[in-house]
Amino acid sequence: MSAGSHNRVEVMHGVNLDQLGRRPSQHYGTLSFTELEQRIDRFAHELGLTARFFQTNAEDEFVEHLHRLEGLADGIVLNPGAWTHYSYAIRDALEIAALPTVEVHLSDVGNREPWRQVSVVRDLCVATVSGEGPDGYKTALERLSGELSR
Ligand code: DQA
Repeated sequence: MSAGSHNRVEVMHGVNLDQLGRRPSQHYGTLSFTELEQRIDRFAHELGLTARFFQTNAEDEFVEHLHRLEGLADGIVLNPGAWTHYSYAIRDALEIAALPTVEVHLSDVGNREPWRQVSVVRDLCVATVSGEGPDGYKTALERLSGELSR
C-alpha cells in the first residue's frame, strides 16, 4: 500500500501549546504556535501527507475530537501538553480512536521534573519523540508515514 492512499494526519495539540512564544524558551524555543503549525504543515507536505490541525485548552473538547476522528484521519501526531502526564480520559479516548499515533514533545520530558517523565499515552503510541524541538514533528511524521505505508 502506498502512503498516498493513507495520508491524512491529524496533528493534535493540547493545553497551553497555543501559548508558545510566551513559554520558557530553554524548553520550548521561540516559535509562535502559528509558526510551529506552518512548519509542521511544510514537513507533512514534503512527505506527501495531508495535515489537519486541532488545538484546545479544554480537555472535553480534546476527548470529543478524538471520538470524531473515525473515517477522517489515518494517523495522529499527538502533543497533549501537560495532559500527557495524567489524563486517563485522553488516554481512553485515544484508545477509542484506534489510529496509529506518534507522541511528540518539544522539550526533553525525560530529563525534566519527575512528573513530566510519566506519560499515560505512551504505550498506545507507535513511537515517542521528545527534545528535538520543532524538528521533532518531522521525525514524528516520518515515523507515521512509515507506519501508514506498511
Ligand atoms: C510538552 C511537555 C509537557 O510537559 C508540558 O506540560 C507542555 C509541553 C512539550 O511539548 O514539551 O505543555 O508537551
